[in-house]
Amino acid sequence: MKILITGGAGFMGSNFIKHILNKYPDYQIINLDKLTYAGNLENLKEVENDSRYTFVKGDIADENDVDKAIGEGVDVIINYAAETHVDRSILDPKAFLETDILGTFNLLEAVRAGKAKKMIQISTDEVFGMVHEMGEEFTEESRFDPSSPYSASKAGGDHMCGAYFKTYDTPIIVTHSCNFFGPNQYPEKLISLAITNLLEDKKVPVYGEGNQFREWIFTEDHCNAIDTILHKGEMGEVYNIGTRQRRKNIDVIKTLLKFMGKDENNIEKVKDRPGHDFGYAINPDKLMGELGWKPAVSFEEGLQKTIDWYKENQDWWKKIKSGEYKEYYAKQYKNV
Ligand code: NAD
Ligand code: TYD
Repeated sequence: MKILITGGAGFMGSNFIKHILNKYPDYQIINLDKLTYAGNLENLKEVENDSRYTFVKGDIADENDVDKAIGEGVDVIINYAAETHVDRSILDPKAFLETDILGTFNLLEAVRAGKAKKMIQISTDEVFGMVHEMGEEFTEESRFDPSSPYSASKAGGDHMCGAYFKTYDTPIIVTHSCNFFGPNQYPEKLISLAITNLLEDKKVPVYGEGNQFREWIFTEDHCNAIDTILHKGEMGEVYNIGTRQRRKNIDVIKTLLKFMGKDENNIEKVKDRPGHDFGYAINPDKLMGELGWKPAVSFEEGLQKTIDWYKENQDWWKKIKSGEYKEYYAKQYKNV
């Protein structure tokens, strides 16, 4: 199978490329990535000389770059490429619309033209907006009600996928996942930022009182979910990917502090995020029941593995934190 992965130099895309190349000796991967601040070819060091792997630097929002990456044609496009960080989308939304909407449209056009046999859209539960309590869940039928420029852009891309299936019968599957965590996550999201700050003896910024909650999935479990959907998913279907491992932000931080031998003086309450969604919770029964997937890594086990990875790979994140990231961090926290 020949797979075009977009955004493969990012956090989850790079984990998925390594997963596929390890598991399927006959598969070929083309990785199309623009190498934004979040793209890092160091994530792919172990596969860069693998003859089954090709890297193409390019932008999914540019149809010529998409054509160049597809070449003679591919069996499937898996679209991981996106601008992904809510706080950045609040500071500067334009790139989100370009990549997450226009980029998705270009990939759909390639599938419609027969250059790829099918496509899997990697999306988020944030398109549904927020739940108000842990027991409430989004299903595949829940209405989109996005809050941030990030989730609104992802919702735009996902709506385009649905429209292409209905209008042109374009073979597409959309996935909505809960929050990812694990090795290689850019140190701007809650867990990766908190671990790296604590390793640097800095405090962890908690927005508001930290009572908001998220549902968490470890890298390996998400890779297995997409692998399952790639091989067994039905075209035109939507699959929610969730674990029901829901934690309040403040409890995530307290668990991290405990695992890292630190006390609660390392928490710094800061100004809340504008339009902050209270909770995300997703119902994964369809994926579990129809396709037989289930998560294997508990939140606490994944957290320990993640801490270990950031401890063992300090060069990886220290390079990031001393570069472009500094500018973002200064903007993000200037109003605190
Ligand atoms: P990431 O931010 O770590 O990486 C994104 C990658 O996309 C980078 O390599 C970047 O260079 C590339 N990219 C950005 N714009 C591009 C463009 N125009 N053309 C080509 N490449 C481009 O991303 P992630 O956190 O691994 O998320 C991957 C996907 O999963 C995204 O679609 C995201 O919306 C979705 N998702 C993320 C989460 C999460 O918790 N991070 C949860 C659910 C869904
Ligand atoms: P984040 O990792 O940005 O993911 P998302 O907002 O897409 O779910 O944030 C997760 C939660 O943690 C969210 O409720 C915001 C909160 N948060 C903090 O409290 N402090 C931080 O420094 C960050 C980055 C997030």
